[in-house]
Amino acid sequence: MKFTTAIVALTIASLAFVEAANPQGHAVPIVRNPHHKKNFRAQMAKISHRYPQLNLMEATTASPVAAASPVAATGDVPITDAGSDSEYYGAIEVGTPGQTFLMDFDTGSSDIWFPTSTCNTAACKAHNRFNASKSSTFKKDGRQWNITYGDGSTASGVLGSDMVAIGDIKVRQTLGLATNESTQFAQAPQDGLFGLGFSTIESVQGVSTFMDNAIAAKQLALPVVSVFLPSDLVNGGKDGSYLFGAIDQTRYTGNLTTVPVTLEGYWQVTVEGLSFNGTSLGQTSQGILDTGTTLLVLGDTAAAAVHSKIEGATMNESAGGWTVPCSLASSKGNISFKLGGNDFQVPLADLAWSPLTEGSKTCFSGVQGGQDGLWILGDMFIKNNYCVFNKGVSPSISIAPVKY
Ligand SMILES: *[C@@H]1O[C@H](CO)[C@@H](O)[C@H](O)[C@H]1NC(C)=O
Ligand SMILES: *[C@@H]1O[C@H](CO)[C@@H](O)[C@H](O)[C@H]1NC(C)=O
Ligand SMILES: *[C@@H]1O[C@H](CO)[C@@H](O)[C@H](O)[C@H]1NC(C)=O
Ligand SMILES: *[C@@H]1O[C@H](CO)[C@@H](O)[C@H](O)[C@H]1NC(C)=O
Ligand SMILES: *[C@@H]1O[C@H](CO)[C@@H](O)[C@H](O)[C@H]1NC(C)=O
Ligand SMILES: *[C@@H]1O[C@H](CO)[C@@H](O)[C@H](O)[C@H]1NC(C)=O
Ligand SMILES: *[C@@H]1O[C@H](CO)[C@@H](O)[C@H](O)[C@H]1NC(C)=O
Repeated sequence: MKFTTAIVALTIASLAFVEAANPQGHAVPIVRNPHHKKNFRAQMAKISHRYPQLNLMEATTASPVAAASPVAATGDVPITDAGSDSEYYGAIEVGTPGQTFLMDFDTGSSDIWFPTSTCNTAACKAHNRFNASKSSTFKKDGRQWNITYGDGSTASGVLGSDMVAIGDIKVRQTLGLATNESTQFAQAPQDGLFGLGFSTIESVQGVSTFMDNAIAAKQLALPVVSVFLPSDLVNGGKDGSYLFGAIDQTRYTGNLTTVPVTLEGYWQVTVEGLSFNGTSLGQTSQGILDTGTTLLVLGDTAAAAVHSKIEGATMNESAGGWTVPCSLASSKGNISFKLGGNDFQVPLADLAWSPLTEGSKTCFSGVQGGQDGLWILGDMFIKNNYCVFNKGVSPSISIAPVKY
């Protein structure tokens, strides 16, 4: 794959500069949220409703984007691990002067939205709300906007545009200004969602994503967003970040493997294999790398194959999925996904995701089935493997094992 080589060359050639240009001082103080409980049912509901428009993704070709300018910037968003790696969020600034919003950065969707000050539902009132009349750069759009997610949660309102700042990157962005949000969002630690998918899956056709706008404005040193999701188990959920425009070489071991995106909607790639303790389970699939999904959601056959190797694993319909003995948390084994010719691991210990009930010796598994045709490699994969989402002319994801 010639193009893979070219991207890697670009990455290496640009690293010295990018590292130097990566400005410090954009860190927003983050607060741990230890009270956020894992909610397996909500997770599964979210997953099962999350991909209603999969057919939208066929035969989409995003227009090529401009190459990165060598004089552009980077922006680092420190993220908070919202309790046991269930979700992660970080802050952005919107408008002039900037109003701060806590956002769930999501490679599995593309809309950017948060509540507006005219929204008085309980969910809106529980969060930071954007007051357009306090921003000198706000522009009305007028188009109606709405989105439906996972658990059936919805948000709706109007579109508007304003400056969005992440570190030194600042672009005019079309935004969803929610005038109504369903009650599910009342509990959410974040104010809104920040989609990092491709524009082809925007709710309103023709809206450009933040990454596309930043690239077109030559604001990014590299056309990438690099994701380091920390693990509660390994480092207490600290130091996570979304790094826009650069790659942090201190966050991974060995070399990055570059995997071409096969379809531009979600970040879709070919999963060439799945192994258990280094032995292939004979499974392949298309898959997406989705920071907005907590678990690994594979096809039913692949999920069954993984659990057939774990003593005591069962499919518990009334619990809503696969369960494993919580003692798996002390296992030294792993499963691995082959991407771009290399195997990327997820420790079996992580599969002991959450006890069925407080104190239970049976845990919900971090691997679930139900996604035949398009596996979802969620946070459980990404927190073990540093991922560089490259929105260049030929989009790709570069991956390497995380380093703490
Ligand atoms: C929005 O800001 C304007 C101008 O400062 C202020 O008059 C108005 O009360 C604010 N609206 C809300 C809902 O806070
Ligand atoms: C959602 O927005 C679309 C336009 O993007 C519109 O056609 C549809 O009627 C809206 N639905 C609701 C429930 O507001
Ligand atoms: C918000 O949406 C809900 C559900 O669609 C609806 O019942 C409610 O009336 C809406 N509230 C407002 C203030 O529009
Ligand atoms: C990384 O790539 C360099 C240059 O191709 C090579 O010399 C080195 O052995 C690689 N390191 C690993 C850990 O694969
Ligand atoms: C994963 O398991 C295989 C087979 O047991 C082993 O060779 C490999 O070292 C393990 N990887 C890690 C990171 O422990
Ligand atoms: C299956 O799940 C239900 C509901 O969580 C639980 O009560 C039951 O003990 C589980 N069964 C097994 C065999 O773990
Ligand atoms: C997987 O590897 C771990 C660590 O080496 C070991 O404890 C476990 O028994 C292995 N499982 C299987 C099914 O080989």
